[in-house]
Amino acid sequence: MTETATREFTTVGVIGLGTMGAGIAEVFARNGFAVIGVEQNDVGLERGRQHLEHSTGRAVKREKMTREQADELLGRITLTTDMQDLAGADLVVEAVVESLEVKKSIFRALDDIVRPDAVLATNTSSLSVTEISTANAKPGRVVGVHFFNPAPVQNLVEIIRTVVTEPDVLADVQELLRSLGKNPVVCGDKAGFIANTLLFGYLNHAVAMYEGKYASREDIDAAMRFGCGYPMGPLALLDLIGLDTAYEILDTMYKQGRDRLHAPAPILKQYVTAGLLGRKSGRGFYTYEAPDSPVVV
Ligand code: NAI
Repeated sequence: MTETATREFTTVGVIGLGTMGAGIAEVFARNGFAVIGVEQNDVGLERGRQHLEHSTGRAVKREKMTREQADELLGRITLTTDMQDLAGADLVVEAVVESLEVKKSIFRALDDIVRPDAVLATNTSSLSVTEISTANAKPGRVVGVHFFNPAPVQNLVEIIRTVVTEPDVLADVQELLRSLGKNPVVCGDKAGFIANTLLFGYLNHAVAMYEGKYASREDIDAAMRFGCGYPMGPLALLDLIGLDTAYEILDTMYKQGRDRLHAPAPILKQYVTAGLLGRKSGRGFYTYEAPDSPVVV
């Protein structure tokens, strides 16, 4: 059954203006939406403002937009610490810290604030969207919208439908994301969604291959770069992601799905315990002189 879009979205609320939320606010404002950005306190608000100014300033420098366009964009974003200001929102995107308790408390509070037909979305990357949605009195209007970092640049958005997401909500969110120039894909509610489930299974396999001394780190990475056309080899990519982050993602997926592909390779945990976290700590599978320097072998 094909659903056609039924809702008009004009005002979008974004809760949490950190790395992801500020980027998501920018995406909507760039496309002419009125955005209400909510933070938990003035410090968070100031950080969010700086993030937005820095990101749009960079776009001006790279001639992706003019100074006037950047100012117009920023003018469409209202910053507040009061969730009640979301009363007029057609869509609310939650992008606060990855904590089930914090997210549930927000979805519970939104019940008394937003209109009954407003759509609610969470940008969680690993928590159960179903569980978050049950905190709201109308879980049928809740979806996951998993933007990629940085949100203004990355075109993929995974839309996560739960078993109770209403088909018209899904259709409307898909249409909305397309209108932003994004490529939405739809999947069920399982940690990792599509991209990370496939990507981290592959990365983990590369670590197991290295751990088993089947091939050197350089040859594993070279095989995927020159044989498969990937821009980076898996071990260099893991160093970039951060081995602690990669371990947490794999561990969450394994605990939820019990797919052996995602059982973290033992050496990954050992590296994390030893403080070898990748580029950010100067050493992971490779050694780096400075966080962004080329590889030192
Ligand atoms: P972050 O830590 O940079 O930002 C979270 C923001 O939420 C902070 O500014 C914090 O002050 C604010 N916040 C916390 N509680 C709040 C509340 N009750 N009301 C309003 N604001 C509140 O986190 P980040 O990286 O932006 O992640 C946000 C969400 O996006 C998480 O669910 C994460 O899993 C997900 N995600 C992160 C990606 C990444 O690459 N960082 C990629 C895709 C999804």
